[in-house]
Amino acid sequence: MAKIQLGTRPVLYPMPALLVGADVDLKPNYMAVAWGGIACGEPLMISVALRVVRHTLKGIRQNGSFSVNIPSKDQIRELDYCGIVSGATADKVKDCGFRVFYGTLKTAPMIEQCPLNLECQVEHQLELGSHVLVIGRIVETYLSEECLTDGHPDVRKIRPLIFTHGPGSQYYEFGDAVGAAFQSGRVLVKKE
Ligand SMILES: Cc1cc2nc3c(=O)[nH]c(=O)nc-3n(C[C@H](O)[C@H](O)[C@H](O)COP(=O)(O)O)c2cc1C
Repeated sequence: MAKIQLGTRPVLYPMPALLVGADVDLKPNYMAVAWGGIACGEPLMISVALRVVRHTLKGIRQNGSFSVNIPSKDQIRELDYCGIVSGATADKVKDCGFRVFYGTLKTAPMIEQCPLNLECQVEHQLELGSHVLVIGRIVETYLSEECLTDGHPDVRKIRPLIFTHGPGSQYYEFGDAVGAAFQSGRVLVKKE
């Protein structure tokens, strides 16, 4: 198969579409984040890459805590708004009509309308260049009741968004299941 070299590009598809929250000067603020993911299992940690100038980062540093909220498909407008306007010049909670709640940490503001919320305590900050990689320990997970199936978060009910970079950047919706994880590869496992 012929390959074209594209240079270095941040194309790690698919990317999540998250709303990262922090209290900045005692006021909740949220920003859209695509560069995030689970970083460790035990203890359970998540990482988000935030450009140094972000208003939200200021709050994360003030409190040592933050939230990761997973918006559903019907929150595209709020997600995108939080990704194009800075909390330095706008009250995004008011503009989006977010209902804010706090958990055990008391300083990580979460969004009631987002079906899934992760409450995080900052453990590490890596200054990598344009971005700071903030690594937080997940201290609690909150799920909207209606998104539960058999005691587990049901991604078909959460309906998270997928983000794609580049010209014509788009949000995609979560699609159909196409194969069982930890099962599909079994046919290739060599038998003794
Ligand atoms: C879909 C999407 C994903 C984004 N992902 C990131 C990201 O991973 N890291 C980052 O620093 N900025 C990211 N941004 C940009 C910030 O969300 C944007 O600059 C925001 O206005 C910052 O808000 P704040 O200044 O209130 O913190 C993204 C924007 C969009 C629309």
